[in-house]
Amino acid sequence: MKDVFEFGSRVREDFPLLKRQVRGKPLVYLDSAATAQKPIQVIEAVKNFYEKFNANVHRGVYSIAEEATAAYEEAREKVARFINARSPREIVFTRNATEAINLVMYSWGLSNVRRGDVLLTTEMEHHSNLVPWQNLSKLKGAELKFVGFNEEGFLRLEELDNYKDVRLFAFTFASNVLGTINPVRELVKYAKEAGAVTVVDAAQAVPHMPVDVQQLGCDFMAFSGHKMLGPMGIGVLYGKERLLEEMEPFMVGGEMVKAVDFRGSEWNEIPWKFEAGTPNVEGALGLAAAIDYLERIGMDAVRKHEVKLTEYALDTLIRIDGFTYYGPSSPEQRCGLVSFNLRGIHPHDLAALLDEDGIAIRAGHHCAMPLHSRLGIAASARISFYIYNIPSEVDFLAESLKKIKRVLEA
Ligand SMILES: Cc1ncc(COP(=O)(O)O)c(C=O)c1O
Repeated sequence: MKDVFEFGSRVREDFPLLKRQVRGKPLVYLDSAATAQKPIQVIEAVKNFYEKFNANVHRGVYSIAEEATAAYEEAREKVARFINARSPREIVFTRNATEAINLVMYSWGLSNVRRGDVLLTTEMEHHSNLVPWQNLSKLKGAELKFVGFNEEGFLRLEELDNYKDVRLFAFTFASNVLGTINPVRELVKYAKEAGAVTVVDAAQAVPHMPVDVQQLGCDFMAFSGHKMLGPMGIGVLYGKERLLEEMEPFMVGGEMVKAVDFRGSEWNEIPWKFEAGTPNVEGALGLAAAIDYLERIGMDAVRKHEVKLTEYALDTLIRIDGFTYYGPSSPEQRCGLVSFNLRGIHPHDLAALLDEDGIAIRAGHHCAMPLHSRLGIAASARISFYIYNIPSEVDFLAESLKKIKRVLEA
């Protein structure tokens, strides 16, 4: 664990917020799956924009407007390279993963889904990749079907045989509750044979492991900047150029048009066709700085650190009497989060009591109520890691959990 400690300790130095205390104790931040903390480099990138070249993009001909436009478009190129998209034209900036999925639902879904079509998703989705498809099936009279998961938290791939003709298959890359990393390539291959367009919710994957959209072959992929060290309010929709070209815009107004007269308008080229109004320039620049930061570390190293921490957490926490966790037992098959319950203690009470020790964890249904009902529970507690976490934080957590148990069971 020495190498994991050293890696995390070095990284933490760049994160001002991790130096603060909570209730007189050092903050132990174990909720990066909800949102990640930001390194000084990202904070500086946002500050630098406002101090040096704040101007609206794509319209001014003066110098700082050109600088802002160039920086915004460079950020798009950086995102494209980061996930190995063929072209920056395939990268649409949105507010977050949720908006990216809604964009597909409205722009692609409304014109391509017909009554009786099958929309397929899974029982392990975040509400963001479930509610839009419920909505689409209601609007178009399509049938929404689900692939279940087994005891270990893996998708029941054999159930795919039941669906031979599918219009759309939307699934998560990595579950924000079970931690399961799904076999995306295999799922995309199946979808192609079933005639389905694929939407991959990569909110818990792109921040934590190398992701290559060309290698995966998916049609659409959504993720959020704030979970990968970037600012809030910036997200990404990756879409294959051909599909984006064919789609109608999601929102209309300024910026997304090429020409307008009193009768009608001609849409702009992709990706700008999907970016109506003034975009989140500071967000895009902050995201670009976050990508620089992650690339300096290397996504393989990011993943390795999280696998080791997860393994350490599972080994440590499983020794606590009454501890149950959900999802795969092998750390290699899960992302860096663990959802659990401690017998006899409600997860909300647990999170509130841990906060007294300065430990921040998530409790509740984690925006995945149907998944929890499949597990037969109303709620769970969840810890999640990122590059700045260290094994001693797992030790603090374990000690605090044992203390809470002692007090409550006394
Ligand atoms: C798997 C998954 N999908 C989608 C989302 C939604 O992300 P956002 O709220 O940034 O749109 C989350 C956020 O927790 C998530 O974990």
